[in-house]
Amino acid sequence: MASIMPPREIIDQDRPLSPASLLSRSYRDRLIERGLLGLYRWYTARSQETRNWNPDLGFDWQNIRTDFNPQVQMVLEGFFAVEQYAPDYVSKFLHMVRRSHGRSHFQMRWGSEEEKHADSWENAVLFSRSRTPAYLEDYKISLRTNEWKLPWDDALHVLLYTVFQERATQLNYLNLAKITQGISSKPELNDQIDPVLTKVAVTIATDEAAHYNFFLECARLFMYYYPLETLEAMRDVVNHFAMPAGEIIPNWDEFFEAAYKCAVYGPREYARDVVALVFSQFGVQGKKQLEEGIKRTRLVPDEQGQMMQTAIWETFDPEIMLRDVKRIYAKIQGHEAKYGMDKIDPVALVDNPVWPVR
Ligand SMILES: [Fe+2]
Ligand SMILES: [Fe+2]
Repeated sequence: MASIMPPREIIDQDRPLSPASLLSRSYRDRLIERGLLGLYRWYTARSQETRNWNPDLGFDWQNIRTDFNPQVQMVLEGFFAVEQYAPDYVSKFLHMVRRSHGRSHFQMRWGSEEEKHADSWENAVLFSRSRTPAYLEDYKISLRTNEWKLPWDDALHVLLYTVFQERATQLNYLNLAKITQGISSKPELNDQIDPVLTKVAVTIATDEAAHYNFFLECARLFMYYYPLETLEAMRDVVNHFAMPAGEIIPNWDEFFEAAYKCAVYGPREYARDVVALVFSQFGVQGKKQLEEGIKRTRLVPDEQGQMMQTAIWETFDPEIMLRDVKRIYAKIQGHEAKYGMDKIDPVALVDNPVWPVR
């Protein structure tokens, strides 16, 4: 006869992963939304405090050099072209996430920063005499004839896309800054030194790093509450990634070739400095591990989208993820304490009970 144990406190290991102990989708959505709102407010305060520069008055435009080689000139034109679609990017993203306070308001703030990038690259092209004002006027018209469209039709894929895209953009600008500092991996470009363009590229790259970081933090919240869906979106985005507006910029191939030859951006940079870096932030070892983990997790259908098979916890590092999620909440709490929001509506991390570590 089995012995009957006296009632005792149920410890975590005893708790069955039954639907009763799971968080409903709508509750998870609300938790994510509250986190995103806090992140956006933290971001805005920081953006105003540390990156409040002006594209016209923030740089010594009249002293930028006027004899960049044709490849560097082409790269500048391409940067100008990509950022020229800022109004399309903002309007499409905004519409897609309009039901989320945090994400939609963020997109407006983000747009105000991207708009500065477009204007800075325009100044760089004109003041460096890379292109004439008449050329740029026509070029702008031809760019804006085409309309940029979202690369994905759901908000989670779009979020993951922006993570990769912002990192790729930051990398492009940092690699240009290497050229203008004379430290490019292409020694033939080391005569293209220019402190003005360096400052421009580094300033914009700093914004892109902040964008990357914001979207990454958002993706981490989704990862915590929707690990499988987020990993799938990551896989899809990595497999189909292309820089924004590539298919609508009329002379994209020329730009792409120049960027490639200058070691500003190409397949190598994408694999090494974008994909590998983003993966490492999620504790994902590589594409193969990601693909196989998702496949094995999907073998047994999950219940309520949350009954995770053990395979998923081998697809990425849940410990790294949890550590980062805790850090995100601490960051938001720190910001909310600064203005007393902690006493009105404090943000709090609610455990996802399926997570294997606490
Ligand atoms: Fe930008
Ligand atoms: Fe950006």
